Amino acid sequence: MLTIPFNTRMTVIALNAQELWVHSPVEPTISIREAVSKLGSVRFIIAPNKLHSLGVEHWKEHFPSAEVWVSPGFCSRHPQLPADHVIGAEVPEEWKSELDTLLFRGSTFLDEVVFFHRLSRTLVLTDLIQRHEASREPWFWRAVKRSVGVLGHSGGTARDLRCTFRDRSAARESAESVLRWDFDRVVIAHGMCIEQDAHRVVEDAFGWALS
Ligand SMILES: [Fe+2]
Repeated sequence: MLTIPFNTRMTVIALNAQELWVHSPVEPTISIREAVSKLGSVRFIIAPNKLHSLGVEHWKEHFPSAEVWVSPGFCSRHPQLPADHVIGAEVPEEWKSELDTLLFRGSTFLDEVVFFHRLSRTLVLTDLIQRHEASREPWFWRAVKRSVGVLGHSGGTARDLRCTFRDRSAARESAESVLRWDFDRVVIAHGMCIEQDAHRVVEDAFGWALS
């Protein structure tokens, strides 16, 4: 992103009848498509915020019967990309029966939708919390990411992103809503997932919104 080296993670959830919910898709290489196809059929392609458009078009080409669901700001930023539905109050029953869905409000920039998979007690975030691995970063980017607050286990919401949350009460309400979910694991798009003490880690990372 903007010449900054970034790894990104795609998340796949198998819904009850082996229908797949593909979140923040990366480019669908042959090996990735084969691996995903072994899990089930792709039913939903999710663009959880307007920044995560990377593989949406090519996933729709390979799986044309899948529905593309996008964040509220996605279509205006990417009018050329496929989008069947904007994620709002209502989502399909087979999705709603397994996943809780929440728009994290308060930012003038980020339109991220967050998800809680109840069966696995997993919170799925995209850009709201980042935890880049220090050992995998060249010294320059390590310094940059540390200064932005997204390096290592103490990573969190990037400082520049926090500044876009002008409506602090909306951000606080959203953070509190996330913390009411009973998760014990967090999958994130950039960096190390949170496998230990997840609730406390997220509460600390959202301290800027909760204070
Ligand atoms: Fe991102």
